[in-house]
Amino acid sequence: MVLYYSMYGNTYRMAREIFSGIEDEGCIPMIRRVPEILPPGVIASDGRIGRAMKDQEAVPVASPGELEKIDGLVVGSPTRFGNMSSQMRNFWDTTGGLWTRGVLVDKPAAVFCCTGTMHGGQESTLLSMMLTLIHHGMIIVGVPFSVRELAETVSGGTPYGPTAVVGPDSSRQPLETDLTIARELGKRIAVISRKLKSGR
Ligand SMILES: Cc1cc2nc3c(=O)[nH]c(=O)nc-3n(C[C@H](O)[C@H](O)[C@H](O)COP(=O)(O)O)c2cc1C
Repeated sequence: MVLYYSMYGNTYRMAREIFSGIEDEGCIPMIRRVPEILPPGVIASDGRIGRAMKDQEAVPVASPGELEKIDGLVVGSPTRFGNMSSQMRNFWDTTGGLWTRGVLVDKPAAVFCCTGTMHGGQESTLLSMMLTLIHHGMIIVGVPFSVRELAETVSGGTPYGPTAVVGPDSSRQPLETDLTIARELGKRIAVISRKLKSGR
């Protein structure tokens, strides 16, 4: 499952590329967005939010119960003050029942994010999401430097997970290198998910 939140569409773009990487490996991806919790007044204040929401209408909204049937997970969020978004945090705060039963224990998980600025907290956002996944007993999967683009990029892309710098007004799109790294992560999580599943 690729599970994400995106207000302006950039994290959604990265999510779609990860989805394609999973497909490349012959696995069956699901894509889900977490529920929106922004007050209607905030959404109405910026037409770009409404347009991005419309673009994502076809993506089903995640429910925690769906995590019971997955073999691997990739979680993505825009950075909010160096942390994951409240929408993503809110979703995970509804998964206590799954945690109690250890539903996600020993399943692989990876993370990705977008920031407005180059040094605005990509790594801290990725690590913030990892903490929750580790509490759920998941096995964290990163991006190895055998993905050549990681060493070459001077924009997004980290070994902790794919990233994109989308500009202070979020209007810059993820670069081709960002998307390549995202796709490679999709392939990697698929391969590892399959291996772990066959060993269970
Ligand atoms: C409340 C708020 C806090 C933000 N905090 C940060 C931040 O700490 N660092 C940063 O680089 N960008 C920050 N941004 C910019 C977002 O990360 C950027 O809009 C987002 O990555 C775009 O992704 P999306 O197109 O998927 O919504 C913030 C944006 C908002 C609305």
